[in-house]
Amino acid sequence: MNIELSSGAPSPGASRPPLNAPPGRDPAPRSEVRVAARRSFGETMRADTWWIQPLLVFVGLSTFIVYSTWAAFQGKNYFFGNYISPFYPPELLGDSPHSWFGPKPAWWPAWIIFSPALLILWAPGGFRLTCYYYRGAYYKAFWADPPACTVGEPRKSYWGERSFPLIMQNVHRYFMYLALLFILILAYDVWKALWFIDPATGKNSFGIGVGTIVLAINVYLLSGYTFGCHSLRHLIGGFRDQLAKSPTCYRAYACVTCLNRRHMLWAWMSLFWVGFTDLYVRLCAMGIWHDFRIV
Ligand code: FES
Repeated sequence: MNIELSSGAPSPGASRPPLNAPPGRDPAPRSEVRVAARRSFGETMRADTWWIQPLLVFVGLSTFIVYSTWAAFQGKNYFFGNYISPFYPPELLGDSPHSWFGPKPAWWPAWIIFSPALLILWAPGGFRLTCYYYRGAYYKAFWADPPACTVGEPRKSYWGERSFPLIMQNVHRYFMYLALLFILILAYDVWKALWFIDPATGKNSFGIGVGTIVLAINVYLLSGYTFGCHSLRHLIGGFRDQLAKSPTCYRAYACVTCLNRRHMLWAWMSLFWVGFTDLYVRLCAMGIWHDFRIV
């Protein structure tokens, strides 16, 4: 419902000026609330190119979803020596040397597709899906609900996030706990990417390749996104809507707030880079790209 405040000629039900007021003059400026008609889908008075942002969000998210789904179902070419694609860790079961609990079990039903990524991707995927920023972005871009601020939407009812199914978005805080664990796991993978097997001696030696840097930037960007999470800010800031009095807590809160201000930017940069990191490792594993050793 659109509400407009206006002044000027009174509407039929508005109060009239007192009879003893000087002719032609109102004793006081009047205002009234006028309820405008509901806009039809896409209707707006905005003159700017409001549709560009939802369109870019639609294209960006769709591209990432298609690519990441394809990469997750591959189940191969996801590691290259000491590098592993960020779509796969922790590799609980799998054929690579990064696997935690060995190869795919023999009892795995043949009719169920197996890929180590499918065992774990629900956690970072759920974290992104329920992120406060992404919710606002994909409600507009995918559901047109509304397409943009002050642009008419296709639905007449408003459910909000207080009823099923959108109330499920509140699970975000629990995905955030998991996302923090994933940062540790991916940081450990960067550590492993610093150690290369010497083909002559078969021993591990310290080194830095382009892939090491690609993996490290990935953790940096994912950390900037995760540590700027609204839920983390709420969790770390204090208790019962009061800011913590401890200086350490307050500093941590200020730090999360600082990242939170650019949450959208971190969200997009980390999304792009996590996809690129998978692509880098994948193309190296396929022999299309060659990893350059810097140190
Ligand atoms: Fe975006 Fe938590 S609000 S990650």
